[in-house]
Amino acid sequence: MLKKQTQTTRAWHCPMRANESKEMTQKPLPPHLHIDTLAVRAAVDKSQYGENSEAIFITSSFTQPDCETAARRFAGEEDGYIYSRFTNPTVASMEKRLAALEGTEDCIGTSSGMAAVLLLCMGLLKSGDHVVCSQSVFGSTIKLIASEFGKFGVQSTFVSQTDLSAWKKAIQPNTRLFFAETPTNPLTEVCDIAELAAIAHDAKAYLAVDNCFCTPALQRPAQMGADIIVHSGTKYLDGQGRVVAGALCASHDMIKNKFIPVMRSAGMSLSPFNAWVVLKGLETLSIRMQAQSANALQLATWLETHPQVKRVYYPGLASHPQHALAMQQQSGVGGAVVSFDVTGQDSRAHAFHLIDSTQLMSVTANLGDVKTIITHPASTSHGRLTEEQRLAAGIKQSLVRVAVGLEHIEDLKTDLLRGLETL
Ligand SMILES: Cc1ncc(COP(=O)(O)O)c(C=O)c1O
Repeated sequence: MLKKQTQTTRAWHCPMRANESKEMTQKPLPPHLHIDTLAVRAAVDKSQYGENSEAIFITSSFTQPDCETAARRFAGEEDGYIYSRFTNPTVASMEKRLAALEGTEDCIGTSSGMAAVLLLCMGLLKSGDHVVCSQSVFGSTIKLIASEFGKFGVQSTFVSQTDLSAWKKAIQPNTRLFFAETPTNPLTEVCDIAELAAIAHDAKAYLAVDNCFCTPALQRPAQMGADIIVHSGTKYLDGQGRVVAGALCASHDMIKNKFIPVMRSAGMSLSPFNAWVVLKGLETLSIRMQAQSANALQLATWLETHPQVKRVYYPGLASHPQHALAMQQQSGVGGAVVSFDVTGQDSRAHAFHLIDSTQLMSVTANLGDVKTIITHPASTSHGRLTEEQRLAAGIKQSLVRVAVGLEHIEDLKTDLLRGLETL
């Protein structure tokens, strides 16, 4: 017969008990902190255990103390975690930190960057509304707005990213939303956020800006008048190519009344684990953006002098058409994505040769990783666009995009030379 286990005080209980008083573990953040400090400190309150690195709450639901409290929480009359489709402390920590960095009142995490664009459109648009969108934004954004929302009666006009008069001309009485991405993927076209916000607001429309390429470490669109900031957390926010995630940053009123109700019904939710990875990524965002951008500037400057390179697209170069605007809007930094056209008659074959000759860079469609990524946009990220849409966006078969990481600059140059010298 098994001996009944005797009741002993388990050693691992003692330190926990010592920390169970909240007052001992929770120091409220002092006011007026710098952004670099908020990047590592902004989060929801610690648990009673006083963890220094934020906890991951992997739970689908939260127990309620009693039915009356549950009823009030479900009705939105009282704060409290309910169900991880729309309330989770780890996701809330990520949201709080990203909102602090962007300088917005609030933020809502989503399962991917495209889920953020979907939530944006579902939250702000209805059948019969009209969107004015840059023709140079990420390919899936064009597809989602033009084709998917087109099916539900949302109209859209695509305009040149940099031509403010084209945005103005496209306005209709039913225009509700302007959508820009600056710099754009992959041609790094820069638009004037403050000017665009003024035009949108004159038309009683919202301005949404996809801030993936700069991140709040370099550019804070809300400070220039943008109403909603769109993020793919998959890119620099995570920064190490580990998770797919997204977010919208906006006013508290807009998040609460336009986006949370859609999230609650539609469930494009960010998982707590992925939120935690992004939360940790935000802690090093600023130093990664500075270091990767410094590498990118060196690479772009060098590429511009190479005889097999026809044209380099990089906002940090004086030759970039919106260089002055980019420097003013992006804290004097060009970002970490460099695109260029290779020379040659059969330029697709030349671009493929250059990419396939690399031995170090990753041939993959993501960007924002500390590992340098090389891509052929016309056949990958923008491959689903029609030839007409692709040409309107200026994406030729000769275009190569390099999302520069943290490797040594000389190793990156050597890797590109393998293909450039054998074209
Ligand atoms: C500028 C930009 N916005 C949005 C997205 C979509 O993000 P996700 O892949 O996380 O859905 C991407 C993806 O490459 C992107 O480059």
